Amino acid sequence: MSPYLLTRTLPEDATGAALRADVLHGLTRTPKSLPPKWFYDARGSALFDEITTLPEYYPTRAEREILVTRSGEIAEVTGARTLVELGSGSSEKTRHLIDALPALHTYVPVDVSESALTGAANTLLAERPALNVHALIADFTRGLALPGTPGPRLVAFLGGTIGNLLPAERAAFLTSVRGLLSPGDALLLGTDLVKDESVLVSAYDDGTGVTAAFNKNVLHVVNRELGADFDPDAFAHVAVWDRDQEWIEMRLRARAAQTVKVPALDLAVHFEEGEDLRTEISAKFREEVVKSELAQAGLSLTHWWTDERGRFALSLSTPA
Ligand SMILES: C[S@@+](CC[C@H](N)C(=O)[O-])C[C@H]1O[C@@H](n2cnc3c(N)ncnc32)[C@H](O)[C@@H]1O
Repeated sequence: MSPYLLTRTLPEDATGAALRADVLHGLTRTPKSLPPKWFYDARGSALFDEITTLPEYYPTRAEREILVTRSGEIAEVTGARTLVELGSGSSEKTRHLIDALPALHTYVPVDVSESALTGAANTLLAERPALNVHALIADFTRGLALPGTPGPRLVAFLGGTIGNLLPAERAAFLTSVRGLLSPGDALLLGTDLVKDESVLVSAYDDGTGVTAAFNKNVLHVVNRELGADFDPDAFAHVAVWDRDQEWIEMRLRARAAQTVKVPALDLAVHFEEGEDLRTEISAKFREEVVKSELAQAGLSLTHWWTDERGRFALSLSTPA
């Protein structure tokens, strides 16, 4: 096989149809909300990469620390020949895992962002020309079909991205991931952990405004794709910690009453002054919650590793 394949698993217009459905549903309900996957056009993916380098955004550094320390052990325990990565983005941290897996045959990055997949593959292949990379442009919440590469498979879901799913979505997602695993395969899951509120809020509301630009990027995406007339400056970036749900919410708060038109949907959406549009949740976890959610999906937790300061966890689980 050629070292690089890119497969679009959804028909060309499926993304457009999904965006129209999500915007129609999200902007006509109360409270208003949009799913976080729409942040990630080329600009949104680049802004996310910038976020990962900010002093306030500890999750990337904490997870990298665990990968640097534990990749050898993960390789030994799993013996993976195929590494599938869901929501792979830049695949920047993944290189520690790739380099530690001596029997690795194929790396399968999966993302909605084509620009992120192509950028990551170019960088990886420049350094490792013998690596097979089979990238999938796909939505990991919509039933994945994986290429027929050799097992055992290790499915990695890093970055704490699982926290962007609501509890019912998480349960459905974990069950679908379990369905991808055969005996001998494993799931490597990155989860950000519950901690002091001020640390959490700063991670989602940095001093230089990069997270605010990332948050508002969803408005640029809706303007470009659906002809909407959102004025991003008319919304303020807000990050709040929900103590009961144990998740951060990113919101866009209308600075004044306004009506936004979305011509592709024949829709006019009214915002009151101070009204919030929720754009992301980022749930924070405790070990017992991760263990129990995995168990409910038919997965047994076998390993739990944290960074030295206990901020972030990587867990390994196998089909029960
Ligand atoms: C928070 S970033 C994490 C990126 C990388 N894994 C990391 O740890 O730095 C989430 C990534 O998941 C992708 N993503 C978000 N929702 C997705 C979905 N429903 N299906 C596939 N990819 C998705 C985004 O494009 C982005 O690259």
